[in-house]
Amino acid sequence: MKSNRPILRLLMAAIPMLSMSLSIPSWSIDHEGIQERILQLADDPDPRVRFQAALTLGEVDLPGRIEALAGIARKDAADPWVRRAILSSIGSDTVEFLEILIPEVGDSTEGIDSLIEELSKLVGTKGQTEDIRRLLAAIGQPSVKEPVQMLVLDGLSEGLELFGGMVANGGELAAPLADLLVNPSEKIRGVAVEIASKALPQDSPELDTLISEQIARLENREGENLSQSAKMLRLGSYDRVSGALSELLTSQSHEALQVAALETLSTYDHPGVGKTIIDHWSQLAPKAKIQALDILMARQDRAMQLLVAIESEEMPGNILDSQRQTLLLGYPDSAVADKAKQIFSTLSTDEDPELYNQYAEAVTLEGDREKGKKIYLERCTQCHIAEGQGQQLGPDWSGLKSNTRETLLTSILYPNRSVDPGFTNYILETVDGDIFTGILAFSGPNSVVLRRGGAEEDTILRKNIEYLEDTKKSIMPTNLEVGLSPQDMADLLSFIETLK
Ligand code: HEC
Repeated sequence: MKSNRPILRLLMAAIPMLSMSLSIPSWSIDHEGIQERILQLADDPDPRVRFQAALTLGEVDLPGRIEALAGIARKDAADPWVRRAILSSIGSDTVEFLEILIPEVGDSTEGIDSLIEELSKLVGTKGQTEDIRRLLAAIGQPSVKEPVQMLVLDGLSEGLELFGGMVANGGELAAPLADLLVNPSEKIRGVAVEIASKALPQDSPELDTLISEQIARLENREGENLSQSAKMLRLGSYDRVSGALSELLTSQSHEALQVAALETLSTYDHPGVGKTIIDHWSQLAPKAKIQALDILMARQDRAMQLLVAIESEEMPGNILDSQRQTLLLGYPDSAVADKAKQIFSTLSTDEDPELYNQYAEAVTLEGDREKGKKIYLERCTQCHIAEGQGQQLGPDWSGLKSNTRETLLTSILYPNRSVDPGFTNYILETVDGDIFTGILAFSGPNSVVLRRGGAEEDTILRKNIEYLEDTKKSIMPTNLEVGLSPQDMADLLSFIETLK
């Protein structure tokens, strides 16, 4: 007999709870008819009834309980109250619940997503090998789509972070994790590395084999995705992988591979990290340089190593733009801040400090835009565009960093004062002894491109490269002012100012 009146059904659903508060003997719950009724209510068309059923299912221990909760989750997870009811009713059956829910979750919705991620996180925080293994098996089923796999893995990874310790018998997770570590999706591989680094003991034989394989691939530079192998090295101890990583920072590696190696290096807090990066500085491609600076500046000991390297001229001082200088001057660690103050005031340059004074009046003199344009067309259009003429090698005027006449003048007179890694001049020698220069416009697995003013460029095959390093200087030449009077310079400034 099925009642169509919600109130009546609600009351019926509430029986077990009433039974507790009214101390009705528990045989009334054990009664088969009532058990069946509760399971039916979990599938009731009325969401309020299903909500009540979700609560009730936490109070009783009957077969089909977790399936019923999963069914409610599929329908009603969008409602935060229902989610809370489900979470509290699951009890210790988290893994079983996920095993049932995940393969049939269908399209993800915000509510289901947060439920899955939260519960996966819970599994992680407990750090039980068997539970983790079951969860990984659940997402390995063919019906489970990548977004759901990511929710589980993200949650698990976060949970393991909170768990913090070593997972007992973690080696047992090596097999399921190894599958994920070679998953076609880069996102999945990324989070799998995270989980593996938290769950697998560093001395497990499975992990050892995995690392040896990656090192061999990288040494022989074989296989499609070397960057992924470089990222997987973080599963090994620093001593085990540092040699291979340092080898990846040479100019023989393309930009993306250098970036991947740096990313892995940055996960260790070994003092060798800073030194390795500094030693390879000149060989890094532009994007790798930017990342290398970020890594060096992110830790007190490395920031100190960076400053000492600049002081001893092992690294060029002009790589630190004003933003980075400010950051170092105000560094939370006073030893670093003091060192920065000392270095930036004495930074040795081959600049002529008198040069600025010779042209200083150009800042205040009134300039003639048309005359300035003529000078610009003669001297600057090799690398800068203006009014549709010229080649763009340098930065676009619309994103100009020098925004006063003083800073414009400084940029023109002292192009090497601060050099963006994308604009340093590299020098390359081929195995045949030919020399090329230019900014490193492209650094790929098989070739590099060096680009110069006037839209000239050369593509050089990697196998022909003998030597590739940056010159630590901007490709914008010094002496551009030679032959110009202060009035000429004022004209030039007036022209450039109108280009922004
Ligand atoms: C051989 C190429 C080349 C030539 C020639 C050249 N520049 Fe540049 N210029 C660059 C590059 C590359 C940069 C970016 C520099 C950097 O970050 O190191 C730059 C930067 C600048 C900047 C600073 C831009 C900013 O965002 O602050 C100014 C100003 C400038 N150039 C003006 C000139 C003027 C004026 C001339 C001609 C008198 C000139 N340049 C000639 C390549 C060139």
